[in-house]
Amino acid sequence: MYYPQELIDQIQQNNDIVDVINEYIPLQKKGSNYVCICPFHADTNPSLSVSRQKQLFKCFACGEAGNVFSFLQKYDGKTFREAVETLADRAGIKLPQNDSGEYSKEKQDHKQRLIECNTEAARYFYALLRSEKGQRGLDYFKKRGLSDETMKKFGLGFANVDGRDCIAYLKNQGFTDKEIIDAGIGVYNDERHGLRAKFWNRVMFPIKNQGGKVIAFGGRVLGDGEPKYLNSSETQIFNKSTNLYAFDIAKASRSTYFILCEGYMDVIALHQAGFPMAVASLGTAFTPGQALMIKRYVKDVYLSYDSDGPGVKAAIRAAKICREYGLSCKVINMTPYKDPDEFIKGEGREEYENRIKEAKNAFIFEIEVLRKQYDPSDPDENTRYDEEVAALLAEMSDEVARTNYIRACAKEMQISVDALTNMVAKQAGKIRNFTQPVKERSGIHEKKDDSKMRPQQLMLTYLAEYPSIYNQISKYVTPEDFTDEPYKTVAVQFFEDLQNGEASPARMVSMFEDEEIQNQVSDMFTAYLKGIESKEEKEAALVDIIYRLKSVAFEEMKNSPNGVDPAVFMSKKKELMEIRKIKIDLPE
Ligand code: UTP
Ligand code: MN
Repeated sequence: MYYPQELIDQIQQNNDIVDVINEYIPLQKKGSNYVCICPFHADTNPSLSVSRQKQLFKCFACGEAGNVFSFLQKYDGKTFREAVETLADRAGIKLPQNDSGEYSKEKQDHKQRLIECNTEAARYFYALLRSEKGQRGLDYFKKRGLSDETMKKFGLGFANVDGRDCIAYLKNQGFTDKEIIDAGIGVYNDERHGLRAKFWNRVMFPIKNQGGKVIAFGGRVLGDGEPKYLNSSETQIFNKSTNLYAFDIAKASRSTYFILCEGYMDVIALHQAGFPMAVASLGTAFTPGQALMIKRYVKDVYLSYDSDGPGVKAAIRAAKICREYGLSCKVINMTPYKDPDEFIKGEGREEYENRIKEAKNAFIFEIEVLRKQYDPSDPDENTRYDEEVAALLAEMSDEVARTNYIRACAKEMQISVDALTNMVAKQAGKIRNFTQPVKERSGIHEKKDDSKMRPQQLMLTYLAEYPSIYNQISKYVTPEDFTDEPYKTVAVQFFEDLQNGEASPARMVSMFEDEEIQNQVSDMFTAYLKGIESKEEKEAALVDIIYRLKSVAFEEMKNSPNGVDPAVFMSKKKELMEIRKIKIDLPE
C-alpha cells in the first residue's frame, strides 16, 4: 500500500459512502439503508444496498461489494491508489508529496520492478528457445504439436541447462539480487552457492495477471523427471488463488462461457484448436477467488478435467465451488482420453465441440460418480445412496433450483419425484437451523452449504451492526474461533478495534489489496438473516450463532488426530451446553 493506513482511514472517514455513491447513482432510503440500481450488472430492481453505519455497499443480486474505495475502483476502473487520491481531493485532504511513510512508494515501485524482472526473464527465455541453446526445448514443443504462432501467443520459452545464464542476463539488465529473488526467478541457498536460478533445463510457460503482465512461470521438464512442473512460489506479485492461466486471453475472447482445465498444456492445446476461452488454475485446486474472477465475465463454466480418479475428484470439488458462487457448471466427458490435450490430438476440434454440447450438468455428474460407490444389487446400499443424494439436495438453499434438481435426480435414480422430495425434506430437517443460509435472489456470496463459515460471517455482521455488544460477546467468542483466512486476519484486527472502541468494517476492507478478497471481506459484514425482524428473534438468533461458532471449534477438537484429553473434552462440552442458555441484550 502506498499511503499509511491512518491516512487511508482519515480519507475514508471524510468521504461518507452514501454521499459518494449518491453523486454517481441516485440513492433512495430504505429502512436503515439506502438502495439503488446496481451498476455492476443488468439490474432492474434496485439491488445495491448501501449502509451508512458500516460504510459498505453490497449488491444482493450480483454480489459485488466493498467500501468507498472499492466502489470507485469498480465503477470507474480506478486503481486503489487512484481511488484514494480522488477521495482525498474530494475531502480536501492533502496527500504527502514525497512519501516517507511506512507503506512507502518504495513498496509499490518494488512491485513494479518485480513485474519488470519477470517480463525481462520471459523475454530471455523466449529468445533462448529460438537459439542454439534452446533447440531441445523447441523440438519438445514441436513434438507436442504446437505451432509457431501458438508458441508466440503464449510467449513460451526455454531455461538453459546452465541456470546462471538467466541470472547473469537479469543482472546485466540492472536487476539486483534482491529483486531477482523477490521476483521468484532466483533463490538464495547459502553463502557458498549464493544466488541461483530457480528454473533450469525446462521449457517455460509465462504466467500473466489479469492485465496481461508476466508475474510468474511454470517450467516443465523435457522428459520424465520430478517435479514435472515447477512453478514460481507466491511472491508480492503472484497470488496463486486469484490468478488463472490464460485468463487475460479468455476474458478478451468475449465467449459466453469459460472452459476450466487442469494443465497449462491443456489450455494451450485448446486455444490452438480454436477455444480461446480455456483457462487453468496454477498447480493448485480451483479456488473461490478464481470463481469470482470468472463470474465477472461469464455465468457458465465447462469443466475439462482429467478423466482419471484424481481428475474426477478435483472436478467435483471445483463444481461445488462454482455452485456456491453462482456459476452454472457442466462437465465435459473426455473419455477415452486422459486430458483435453490428448483429446484434441486424437479427435480434433469438432468432436470436442460435440462434447461441449453433450456436457453433463455437474451435479448429475457427481451423483453418477457417487452411484459407482454403492452396489446396485444390495437394497441397503441403494437406500444409503438415495439418502446421500437427498442430503446433497437438501444443502441447496435455492428452492427453485432444488425443485428442478430433485426432478432431474429422481429420473436419474429411477424413483418418484414425490419420494425423493420427502427424503430431501427429511434430510433438510436434520440440518436446517438459524444459521443455515437463506435464499436470496441469486445468493452468490451467501455460500450455500458452508455451515462452517456462515456462523463466522453472521457473528461479524452482528458485531458490525451492534458494536456495543462486544463486551457481552467477548466473554464467549475470540478471534481464535475464526478458522479460515481471510476471516482470521479480519477477526484479529476487528476484535482489537472493537476493544479500542473504534471498529470500522470499511477499514477492514482496505487491509487487503486484492479485489476478490476485498469482496469477501465486505461480505463478512453484510450477511443477511431472512425473516428475523424483532429484537427477540435477533437475540435468539445471535445465541444460536455463537453456539454454532463454538460447535465448529468443538467438533474440530473432537476429531483431532492427536486425540482429546477426556477432562478437557468434558469441560468444553459443558461450556458449549452453557452457551445454549446465555442471553445477549441487543440495544433498542
Ligand atoms: P498433469 O500431471 O495432469 O500434467 O498436471 P499435464 O497437464 O497433462 O501435463 P503434460 O501434458 O504432461 O505436459 C496438470 C497441472 O498440474 C500442475 C501443473 O499446473 C499442470 O499443468 N502440476 C503438475 C504441477 O504444478 N506440478 C507437477 O509436478 C505436476
Ligand atoms: Mn497432458
